[in-house]
Amino acid sequence: MEFKTIIEPFKIKTVEAIRWTNRQQREELLKAAHYNLFLLPAEAVLIDLLTDSGTSAMSTEQWAAMMRGDESYAGSASFERFRRAVQGIFGYSHVIPAHQGRAAERILFTVMCKKGDVVPNNTHFDTTRANIEFVGAEAVDLPIPEAKDPAHPHPFKGDMDVAALEELIGRVGPSRIPLVMLTVTNNSVGGQPVSMANAREVREVCRRYSIPLYFDACRFAENSYFIKLREKGYENHTPKQIAREMFALGDGCTMSAKKDGLANIGGFLCTNNDALAAQEETLLILTEGYPTYGGLAGRDLEAIAVGLEEALQEDYLRYRIVSTAYLGRHMAHEGVPIVQPPGGHAVYIDARAFLPHIPPGCFPGVALACELYLAGGIRSVEIGTLMFGAHATMDLVRLAIPRRVYTQSHIDYVVEVITEVWKKRERIRGLRVVQEAPFLRHFTAHLEPV
Ligand code: F0G
Repeated sequence: MEFKTIIEPFKIKTVEAIRWTNRQQREELLKAAHYNLFLLPAEAVLIDLLTDSGTSAMSTEQWAAMMRGDESYAGSASFERFRRAVQGIFGYSHVIPAHQGRAAERILFTVMCKKGDVVPNNTHFDTTRANIEFVGAEAVDLPIPEAKDPAHPHPFKGDMDVAALEELIGRVGPSRIPLVMLTVTNNSVGGQPVSMANAREVREVCRRYSIPLYFDACRFAENSYFIKLREKGYENHTPKQIAREMFALGDGCTMSAKKDGLANIGGFLCTNNDALAAQEETLLILTEGYPTYGGLAGRDLEAIAVGLEEALQEDYLRYRIVSTAYLGRHMAHEGVPIVQPPGGHAVYIDARAFLPHIPPGCFPGVALACELYLAGGIRSVEIGTLMFGAHATMDLVRLAIPRRVYTQSHIDYVVEVITEVWKKRERIRGLRVVQEAPFLRHFTAHLEPV
């Protein structure tokens, strides 16, 4: 029989202490961090849900593989193992290692895009948008309409609006669109999956206009598992089979191995286009490193090679998705407005609904994230007006769950803290920006309460 209790599909071999602070200390720490949680010392955080990126706990198999890391500059055996692991899942002919996802993005967009180009995506992540804008192109988000309604329980809320894609291609012309991207899962709208049916439709539109399709594959394993759970016809497929089928629809991908690579650093860029690969490798050598290491140590390549396979294991994915859903369900049960359904790597609180008395211009997401820190030492991240400025259609607070790091009791603690904050929500005040950078301002901005 199946039992209800969620248990972690691992036991713990090494532990890392976490540190308590009291509310008064946290008030001082937050003030010193200019009300920007990125500027807090990590040691002052009890439960760190800032990101699921690079924060995974590695397995004994990954640590063992790291000892086999071949640190040769050229022709490293670790690169061969890495390439085999990547090709076994993604299937593309060229595998170009990079130190993380945004390095792969920079190289891809530098080679493929020029001023005046337009890049559609279901929704660009912040670094993806910034890298496109940096080369003078325009990043256009085309989520389905349901994605803009946090309460809508659409099973594949990460999908791209295919009609809007066709309309965009018709309007600007295919020659100005060097590639179309699909982000799996769609992080910026709530960690929501993209269906295979949608990927196929997007592929079909791209094929008709001869536009390459690339995946932003960061959370491909979680996306594959959602397809298995929710899309008819995939019940009996393995997550790996689903991933292979999806990537076969594309011409390449960017990947941050800091997510579903279960590694602390790393990423890659893949393509089937020989001419592009040659240009990308040249650019790689300029800033990242030789193509058999791309800015990574041999041991990092080993950790990723093992991690990609572990991320696709079904007992791991079941626990991962069920545990995130548990957090979402318990918060929603208390009345907390969250993006429905809960995502794969995170639960997103709808801060505009949580704090209706704070207008978007006073950053309700940042205000809520600050309050969660003050109340219980929990660090989360705003995905809203501070991050996206005028592009923001929602103000969300993301509680991203690092992979294999926190236990069920940590999750119960988070539910308890959020419930307390929910009860006292009328007292929370908005903020204003007092200092900001010209782009990606959320990382360094200074704020103060209004
Ligand atoms: N694409 C998506 C969808 C992402 O979520 C991220 C990173 C990147 C690209 C860039 O990868 O960090 O390795 O350079 N997301 C992290 C997050 C930072 O917290 O969501 P990177």
